Amino acid sequence: MTLNELIDMLARQPRVAVLTGSGISAESGIPTFRGADGLWKQFRAEELATPEAFRRDPKLVWEWYRFRRQIIREAEPNAGHLALAEMEKRLPHFVLITQNVDGLHQRSGSRKVIELHGNIFIDRCVRCGKEVDRSLDPESNEEIPHCECGGLFRPGVVWFGETLPPDALDRAWNAAEQCEVFFSIGTSAVVYPAAGLPELAHRRGARVVEINPEATAVSVHADLIMRESAAKALPEIVAHLQSVKPS
Ligand code: APR
Repeated sequence: MTLNELIDMLARQPRVAVLTGSGISAESGIPTFRGADGLWKQFRAEELATPEAFRRDPKLVWEWYRFRRQIIREAEPNAGHLALAEMEKRLPHFVLITQNVDGLHQRSGSRKVIELHGNIFIDRCVRCGKEVDRSLDPESNEEIPHCECGGLFRPGVVWFGETLPPDALDRAWNAAEQCEVFFSIGTSAVVYPAAGLPELAHRRGARVVEINPEATAVSVHADLIMRESAAKALPEIVAHLQSVKPS
C-alpha cells in the first residue's frame, strides 16, 4: 500500500485503530524502554516495575517513578501526539490505544484514549484501592505516600506479571478486531498482550501501517511501513488528509 492509497482510504472515513508505544514520546524527551537511551538500561525491569520490587523496596520504586514523573511533567506533547489528536477530529471511527503511561496523548487533545498500562500520575492504594490523580499536584515529599486508610499508595501503572485493566483490554481487542486500518506507532511490539493487537488486526483483514525508524515484529504484517519518526510521519499524513475532502 502506498501513502496515497492510505490517504484515499482514510478519506473514506474507515474504522481506524491506533496502538502507540514509548517511541511516540521519544521526541518529547522521554526515553524509550529498549532503545539506546532506554529506561531499562540503568535498571533491570525486575528491580523496579514489579509487585515484588514494590514489596521489597517501595522507597526505591517510588524514587524511580518520581524521577519519571518529573521528566514527563517537564515534557511537552510533540507533533506526533498533536497529529493523532487532529486525526481523531477528522475520523469519526477512531480509537487510540496506548501502552504509554505518560498522559501526553490526553495533554495533546486526544479524547478517545485507551490506557492499556495505566497512568503514571495515578496513585492507587494497595489496601482500599482508592485512586488519586496527581497529574496537577506537585510531587509530595513523603518518601512513600500513604492513603487516608493507612495503606501505601503505589503508582497506578501495570507492572510486569500483572494483568491489564480488563475493560481497557476488551475495548482494545474489539477495536483491533473491527478496524479497517490499524496503525502501530513507536512500539517494538515485544510486550504482550498489547503486542498481539497489530497481528490480530492483520488477521481480521485490516490494513496495517507501521511508523517506526526501526523494523519490529509488526513489520512482517505491515501493508505500509513508514521508516521514520512519528513526529515526521503523522503530520505528513494529516497534511495529506487536509488536502482531500472526506468522501
Ligand atoms: N518515532 C517512532 N518510533 C520510535 C521513535 C520515534 N521518534 N523513537 C524510537 N522509536 C521506536 C523504537 O524503534 C522502538 O521500536 O519506538 C519503539 C520503542 O520500543 P520500546 O522501547 O520497547 O517501548 P514499547 O514498545 O512502548 O514497550 C512496551 O514495555 O516496558 C514495557 O510497559 C512498558 O509499555 C511498555 C512496554
